[in-house]
Amino acid sequence: MKFEKRILCIGAGFVGGPTAAMIACKCPRYRVTVVDTNKEKIAQWNSAALPVYEPGLDEIVKEARGRNLFFDTDIPGGIRENDVIFVCVNTPTKSFGAGAGMAADLQYWEKTARQILEHARSPKIVVEKSTFPVKTALAMERILNSRNDGVRFDVLSNPEFLAEGTAVRDMAVPDRVLIGSRDSAEGYRARDVLVEIYANWVPREKILTSNIWSSELAKLAANLFLAQRVSTINAVSAVCEKTEADVTEVARIVGMDGRIGPRFLNASIGFGGSCFKKDILNLVYLCRHEGLAEVADYFEAVVRINEYQKERFVLNMLEAMFNTLAGKRVCLFGFAFKANTSDTRESPAIYVAQRLLEEKAEVVVTDPRALENAKTDLKGLAGKVSYVKDPYKAASGCQAIAVMTEWDLYRGLDYGRIFKRMVKPAFIFDGRNILDHELCHEVGFNVYPVGKPGLTHFA
Ligand code: NAD
Ligand code: UGA
Repeated sequence: MKFEKRILCIGAGFVGGPTAAMIACKCPRYRVTVVDTNKEKIAQWNSAALPVYEPGLDEIVKEARGRNLFFDTDIPGGIRENDVIFVCVNTPTKSFGAGAGMAADLQYWEKTARQILEHARSPKIVVEKSTFPVKTALAMERILNSRNDGVRFDVLSNPEFLAEGTAVRDMAVPDRVLIGSRDSAEGYRARDVLVEIYANWVPREKILTSNIWSSELAKLAANLFLAQRVSTINAVSAVCEKTEADVTEVARIVGMDGRIGPRFLNASIGFGGSCFKKDILNLVYLCRHEGLAEVADYFEAVVRINEYQKERFVLNMLEAMFNTLAGKRVCLFGFAFKANTSDTRESPAIYVAQRLLEEKAEVVVTDPRALENAKTDLKGLAGKVSYVKDPYKAASGCQAIAVMTEWDLYRGLDYGRIFKRMVKPAFIFDGRNILDHELCHEVGFNVYPVGKPGLTHFA
């Protein structure tokens, strides 16, 4: 079969795999290939057990795989045979050298650019899908145009806004698709090719085009705004706990102002995930580099409040449990950084588990999807940790439950039954405010939500 377009995604992770699957599903006339240096991951994408858990993902992969969606390890072949290349590699925070702990580590991206340069024999449109620092496209252009043998490369910025747990829906019905291009005839031509791809399923008015630097910056700014909302409500939750105000009520009242809006105002143990912290620190680094110290400090406070919230949660547990956790068994309900994903990257549960172990508590972890990742995250830590899939069994013999992830599963459990098998006095620390606190209190628990008065049985 002759395909109308040949598309390559480099990087078969949380973004690359689902992006490719969505394009392949929506555009059966295009051939979409995903490549990765990680052979095991490619084998998983070709199997029944995908490397990523996302509601609805299995279905779209099954529909297109082998028809017009292919997962492969041949990166040079992929580069040669495809015309539009989405770069979806990871861009973690740098852990070494200049900018360590702040700047983006661009080694995977640069390796990819050099591979494209080495293997391309025909013109390519190179699309930045990963989240990059502002002006990455310029560096990419410089590398790609260093060969001077007449092969043309156009670089576009097309950042991804999907959230894990809702990735398939976010891609199928996006709030917007953003395409940044160079302001030149060639830039517009390349941009129009990408617009045509998305227009297969996204209404035109939702496909935004902009200058390439605005596009790169807008992605970082969007994550900053989202994370800032969580840090703001979490900071408010600390005030609530001191004043007997209720953060859920405050959020509802504030969010009803149409200018503010109700979403993303859930107080929590803090935001996790692979992107908020890294993207904000990346922006902070850029600001410091550009001499914008005040702006950098302002942005960095969003991350500092997040660290504070996690530590505050542990200190609240410690205080409520008579200032010692040593030898006490604490069950973590959930380990994923949010519900409906197996991803635990930067999950607040990692921090909480580490701190509990430092306090010499025993930690029991339960999660419906993320236990394998939890094992990897906590490997090598000193102390006693166990992993139990069934939440009833996990909580049995514990003195406290700490809710880390807002899995629906935890709302519907029989807390009376759980209470009976716990050591008394028994505690619940609801880091997500998802449980029925009155009910848990009635069955005997001492209940400590985030940002609202605790319900205890102590005089
Ligand atoms: P990931 O770690 O899940 O996947 C990245 C993949 O790229 C890995 O499988 C890795 O093996 C592969 N890779 C690295 N170098 C390679 C190379 N030279 N050639 C081929 N493959 C290579 O990362 P992710 O979560 O998919 O994120 C990718 C990018 O998308 C990041 O910049 C991230 O900030 C951004 N992003 C992520 C999300 C999200 O929800 N995870 C959402 C929006 C944007
Ligand atoms: C986030 C953004 O929502 C996406 O738009 C973006 O594409 C992505 O980052 C990225 O660049 O990687 P994600 O991290 O997958 O997506 O998940 P979110 O739904 O944003 O949640 C992030 C964290 O904030 C989670 O730990 C979540 O539990 C927490 N959160 C979220 C709260 O604590 N309260 C809220 O009200 C909302």
